[in-house]
Amino acid sequence: MFQLNKDRCIQCGQCARVCPFTCITLDSGYPDMAPKKLRACVKCLHCAAICPTEAIAFPGLSCEPMVPWEPGETAFLQTKNMMLTRRSIRNFKKDPVPRQVIEEVLRTSDFAPSARNQQPQSWLVVHKPETVAKVMKLVVEWVENKHISMEILSELERQNNIVTLDAPHLLIGIGPRAGKMNPYTDTVIALRDIDLLFHSRGIGTCWAGYLANLINASLELRAYLGIPADLQVYGAMAFGYPDNETYQRLPYKGNPPVQWK
Ligand SMILES: Cc1cc2nc3c(=O)[nH]c(=O)nc-3n(C[C@H](O)[C@H](O)[C@H](O)COP(=O)(O)O)c2cc1C
Repeated sequence: MFQLNKDRCIQCGQCARVCPFTCITLDSGYPDMAPKKLRACVKCLHCAAICPTEAIAFPGLSCEPMVPWEPGETAFLQTKNMMLTRRSIRNFKKDPVPRQVIEEVLRTSDFAPSARNQQPQSWLVVHKPETVAKVMKLVVEWVENKHISMEILSELERQNNIVTLDAPHLLIGIGPRAGKMNPYTDTVIALRDIDLLFHSRGIGTCWAGYLANLINASLELRAYLGIPADLQVYGAMAFGYPDNETYQRLPYKGNPPVQWK
């Protein structure tokens, strides 16, 4: 519920200007949210976050102090270089990534945009190597039974695990099958933020498309991981510290076609 502290409000109107659904009116000079507009409010907290005098509050939803960020050449280069230097890692050390590091990264990914601010995604962190191994065992059994994605087995024979990459951990992005606007896109955007945040800490990742598809397809895998039928895996990645995998050059990536109109 939108709450205004009139003693603090300087009537600058910024809150109304940034509201995505014109929920805030300024009829009396002061911001107000009409009851019929409450349903349209997506609780993005833009209004409270932009207010220069902390006059707006939503009980139960806090707004933390802003963190430092200076857009400009330095920020651009650091962000750009982070993106250029990320690679899909294929050799991982056994060393675990500490839980608090993963938790901070996941919390930060909450700031990814999502349709109507719905944030439909949830995360399953497979942190124990023995659980990763069991997942891989179930994958192999499924492939052997169904004779689908047989390259998984032929690569395994060559000591190349293209499903869990023999990484110490897996991150699985899950969302509802129905009832939300864009759970697939929302989950993948957040997962990409996680990917880059991991990279910024020296943690390597490899997106795990086989794994995501196989969890959705295999009842045994879903049951083992405790993913109910009304939820779907929208993205997954293997992660851990890279094992002697330091790239020296930027590979050719081509240029995607761009049209200007
Ligand atoms: C959605 C998605 C699914 C992927 N699934 C797998 C996978 O199951 N196994 C794998 O070894 N690599 C997988 N990859 C990694 C790609 O092979 C890799 O991104 C590509 O070869 C380019 O390499 P780079 O990421 O280092 O630029 C996946 C990547 C994406 C984006």
